[in-house]
Amino acid sequence: MVNFQDKKIVLGISGGIAAYKTPDLVRRLKEQGADVRVIMTQAAQAFITPLTLQAVSANSVSDSLLDTQAELAMGHIELAKWADLILIAPATADIIAKIACGLANDLLSTICLASAAPIAIAPAMNQQMWHAAATQDNIQTLKQRGVNIFGPGAGEQACGDVGLGRMLDVPELIDLTQQLFANKQMLLGQHWLITAGPTREAIDPVRYISNHSSGKMGYAIAQAALNAGAKVTLISGPVSITAPRGCQLIKVNSAQEMHQQALDFTKNKDDKVDVFVACAAVADYRVDDIAAQKIKKTDDNDTMQLNLVKNPDIVADIAHLSNKPFVVGFAAETQNVEHYAKDKLKRKNLDLIAANNVAEAGQGFNSNDNALTIFSPAEQFDIPLMKKTQVAQQLVAIIAQQYATQQSNNKK
Ligand code: PMT
Repeated sequence: MVNFQDKKIVLGISGGIAAYKTPDLVRRLKEQGADVRVIMTQAAQAFITPLTLQAVSANSVSDSLLDTQAELAMGHIELAKWADLILIAPATADIIAKIACGLANDLLSTICLASAAPIAIAPAMNQQMWHAAATQDNIQTLKQRGVNIFGPGAGEQACGDVGLGRMLDVPELIDLTQQLFANKQMLLGQHWLITAGPTREAIDPVRYISNHSSGKMGYAIAQAALNAGAKVTLISGPVSITAPRGCQLIKVNSAQEMHQQALDFTKNKDDKVDVFVACAAVADYRVDDIAAQKIKKTDDNDTMQLNLVKNPDIVADIAHLSNKPFVVGFAAETQNVEHYAKDKLKRKNLDLIAANNVAEAGQGFNSNDNALTIFSPAEQFDIPLMKKTQVAQQLVAIIAQQYATQQSNNKK
């Protein structure tokens, strides 16, 4: 278990009764070596004084965006850059909504917007407010952006209601913060290149050939790799979801564009790619001759033919480079899953292949869940049906372990 030695934590306190627990939280973080700087919202100061937090943190407490003296000591941008983690406890419905909307009208919300550090929030509110559709939508938005949600717990509330919405106790917050930092170290120093989403192959200026990939699986892998400390470059086809905070996003349309970008990154010696994960659903074929103008329907043409040519195979091309990274492919199959996946593993010269049966309802393309069987040349790992975010965490752990084994074997 790691402690917080040399970790710089910004603790944001918003206005809830659970704010009374924060001096203890600061004390416990500091006991384990963290340097803690506290930001309080105006409402927080109705529950606990800045002086108390200043005494336990041994740092001045920031509470205003427009305080010239405070800005002289450590400006808000400096504070945003200083943080290894922004932990908001308690996080009220109000601050959650502000962060989800990207508001920057007080110091705490501004720091969240101005910082590249991971954010963790410990929600604390009345159970009805927690269950409100607006709060749940905001929580979903934050989860998608990679914000860590610690809790809330259930039980009796200050207002007398019983249910979900209590801020977790200090020991639970300390455990979750430790896990977050421990996880952050697994892939430290590694550069992961990930493809996600579909490609679009133009027919004419208004039509294209594509598939049902939503990007959810690839984006979840990018998030899990980021959470584990990797630098992540995400090459994505057109999707409607938001890229995880902290990754470099390269947007492409066609397979040829994705191929070009993926090879450019892999061949860049100054920013070596350690692991390449090909999760994108790349079109195998493109239209040979894209019409310059919209193809018109005519009365005498009841059928129409498109001449298709093969697209370059991105994952195979990267896996055949002399200085190839550790390469993980996917296999989207509707039958004979193991047979076809193992064939792709060998034929494309991959280190691992993650096979999914996309004929099964509730998994694969455009669903929130998935199940994978991962094959290396010698081993097999099964990830049962669960949320794609959880599948991604397990997959990233398997890749990390297999990559580490390969690295140590190469050194022998
Ligand atoms: O995006 P979601 O809605 O979350 O859905 C996730 C998913 C089903 C798309 C994902 O889990 C998945 O299976 N991705 C791979 C889809 C695919 O194209 O599989 P394939 O079996 O046709 O291709 C095999 C491998 O070759 C894949 O790694 C693919 O990225 C790669 N490939 C394929 C063709 C090509 N021209 N270049 C490639 O790199």
